[in-house]
Amino acid sequence: MSGWVDFLDSSHPIYVSDRHRDVHYRLIAHDIRAYVPSPTAIVLDYGCGDALHAADIAAPAGRLLLCEAGPHVRAAVAKRFEGHPKITVIAPDEVGRLHDHSLDLIVMHSVAQYLTADELAGLLSLFRRLLKPDGLFVLGDVIPPDVSAPTDALALLRFGAREGFLAAALFGLVRTVFSSYWRLRSTLGLARYDAGTITQRLATAGLSTQRAPRNIGHNPARMTFLARPK
Ligand SMILES: C[S@@+](CC[C@H](N)C(=O)[O-])C[C@H]1O[C@@H](n2cnc3c(N)ncnc32)[C@H](O)[C@@H]1O
Repeated sequence: MSGWVDFLDSSHPIYVSDRHRDVHYRLIAHDIRAYVPSPTAIVLDYGCGDALHAADIAAPAGRLLLCEAGPHVRAAVAKRFEGHPKITVIAPDEVGRLHDHSLDLIVMHSVAQYLTADELAGLLSLFRRLLKPDGLFVLGDVIPPDVSAPTDALALLRFGAREGFLAAALFGLVRTVFSSYWRLRSTLGLARYDAGTITQRLATAGLSTQRAPRNIGHNPARMTFLARPK
């Protein structure tokens, strides 16, 4: 699904305003931070996107690796955190070269929907290899089959009302309908999984899984899973 990487690496309309982008990444960082297990933990955020508030994740950790596939987004993130003592920005092929059993926490949030089944399987077994025996993999924002676009739209409007960007959210939703986002959504699709299927995919990779009580981020209709090496 490299079409999605290109789209997400362009000036796309997913964030309806600067305020939306800022509060989105602040909330994600806040929720991911809660999973950092210790002050020496080595953490990987795979598919980090703009990662505006990644310093909040790095603060309670030993080291934070931010991996982003899109070259423009990755360059911007690298510039933002240049000189940060704990943050390193890497490309997906560099993740494959990390040492086995070297990571305490791997997070992949709002990425699985853009991956083919083979891409997801490849990443899950890579993460299994990279995790320490007591490490944790957090798979966030998994879209269940029964969650429709209007449910996503409502979650965005609620988030906008709560965080002061409701007008931009309304305008942004209308703009999205006429954007390449819908064209890609209908041609490439978004991968969806029910809890049983994703648990099975994680088990195939050697991970045992439980569903987190709540999803990371603003959309409670999507799911987060916590997986540990078996
Ligand atoms: C919506 S962004 C998520 C950013 C951030 N994790 C968040 O939750 O806001 C989706 C991410 O998936 C990544 N992605 C999409 N398709 C991918 C692929 N085939 N391989 C690796 N990363 C991919 C994109 O580069 C982007 O960083």
